[in-house]
Amino acid sequence: MSYSSTSVSTSPIDGQKPGTSGLRKAVKVYLQKNYTENFVQSILEGGLGSIEGSTLVIGGDGRYYEKEAALLIIQMCAANGVSKVIVAHNALMSTPAVSCVIRKYKTNGGIILTASHNPGGPDADFGIKFNTENGGPAPENVTDKIFERTRNINQYKICPDLKVDLSKIGQSVYTVDGREFTVQIIDSVSDYVEYMKEIFDFPSLKNYLSSGKQVLMDSMNGVMGPYVKRVICEELGAPETSVVNCTPLEDFGGKHPDPNLTYAADLVAEMAKGQHDFGAAFDGDGDRNMILGKNAFFVTPSDSLAVLAHYLECIPYFKKTGVKGYARSMPTSGAVDRVAKTKNQKCYEVPTGWKFFGNLMDAGCLSLCGEESFGTGSDHIREKDGLWAILAWLSVLANQNCSVEQCVKNHWQTYGRNFYTRYDYENCETGQANKMMDHLNAYVGDESNIGKEYSAKDKTYKVAKADNFSYTDPVDNSVSKNQGIRLIFEDGSRIIFRLSGTGSSGATIRMYVEGYENDPAKYEMDPQVVLRPLIDIALMVSKLSELTGRDSPTVIT
Ligand code: G1P
Ligand code: ZN
Repeated sequence: MSYSSTSVSTSPIDGQKPGTSGLRKAVKVYLQKNYTENFVQSILEGGLGSIEGSTLVIGGDGRYYEKEAALLIIQMCAANGVSKVIVAHNALMSTPAVSCVIRKYKTNGGIILTASHNPGGPDADFGIKFNTENGGPAPENVTDKIFERTRNINQYKICPDLKVDLSKIGQSVYTVDGREFTVQIIDSVSDYVEYMKEIFDFPSLKNYLSSGKQVLMDSMNGVMGPYVKRVICEELGAPETSVVNCTPLEDFGGKHPDPNLTYAADLVAEMAKGQHDFGAAFDGDGDRNMILGKNAFFVTPSDSLAVLAHYLECIPYFKKTGVKGYARSMPTSGAVDRVAKTKNQKCYEVPTGWKFFGNLMDAGCLSLCGEESFGTGSDHIREKDGLWAILAWLSVLANQNCSVEQCVKNHWQTYGRNFYTRYDYENCETGQANKMMDHLNAYVGDESNIGKEYSAKDKTYKVAKADNFSYTDPVDNSVSKNQGIRLIFEDGSRIIFRLSGTGSSGATIRMYVEGYENDPAKYEMDPQVVLRPLIDIALMVSKLSELTGRDSPTVIT
């Protein structure tokens, strides 16, 4: 069939600057005239070296408006001279699977339609993210170019008559303006599962699960359901009752698809009954994970990263590649640094956001990395990977033949415990949140604060360093400034403040607190108790309540 495209005139729309992970806005914002079109045209022009002849992957988490957006993007790719799009069946593909497919088929990148863990539905959020040919989120120099295009755009190209049926797997070739345009619709799950089978020892995992171990996995009505069912039930033989909320829903069934103790409370309650040995939850697009042991024993993401770092070589992939180094985002606890030190490995500290790990992986500096925000992953792809993390944990448990709780406690015995907590103050008034950050910036800019002592309860902490974290990428020397306020005390304890870059409205303040203990008598204490003095100091120094009017956080992790 032959089609022709048209150019539609448009004008720039404010506020299309990609954040920590793509452009996330309310669905209502995306539905404004030309909003999606402007951003997609800007991705094509700013994100790809050359549009003509390129191949792109398109997939997303199944949230409201996703399928329409995918169809629109196909029409725009056709009109702009893209040669081929590889599209997920029904447009459903997890973020890690898109990364896997971009790399496997050596495409020029991909467009992921997701707002990750933000709620979905007509009154909730949508998002569009561009990933480059390495399979990872576009780095800042690329997102800057995309943003620049959104500020100068005056037309977009579209082929409005091209209607593709996303429910049919297979390849179709169209002629658009005399050029060939191929649409290949692929099974969403197969490529990813095949890859997992190369990375992990599936027969040994199957053995482990068949030895009476009960698991419970919550896909939170996001995109992970089909992946989890296929891997955990079909491949590894766990009963169907081991997986819940497995049907991807446009509004995630009203859930907030974020795998933490607050939003995955149902899973926590079920695990607390003590009938399951291992529990896990994923976010809407499947890149995040939460790990629980029997009786809902919670593994902090920072500890999860450190434990995996310690045992990494029990996974066949790393036996083969060797361990090349570790990395964590700046606010993530230093537990993994201790493992790195013992194992004589490098450990990189990068700003918040997965995009900062990509260069290090491409340069062969890094095998395993993670963020305190429930993100864990490796250089097998260029996104964090929820199901990979679960398979990595099951591999460790099978290898050690111990419970989740025992495994973490053994880790503390070896390395000491990095107590950690994060307070989120969601929906703050933007002006007030900025005022607090201004106040903190002034604080860290004032050298007389170094050496100051703060006391709370029976503890005293002396400021050793205070700054706004700035990162120089060791591979390309690019500099990313203003990545978070840090107060580091003489004993290594840290207080960090930053504003979220993934919210769709208002401001979210994140306050991170970390303190290290190597007295075994304290290992099993509640982090909220151990960290109380530091939390009080953080609240005092930041004047958070005074400047924002907020008395308590929305979420504590
Ligand atoms: C949050 C997390 C960050 C993560 C990002 C995308 O970003 O804090 O670690 O990479 O989501 O999942 P933030 O909202 O803090 O900018
Ligand atoms: Zn996500």
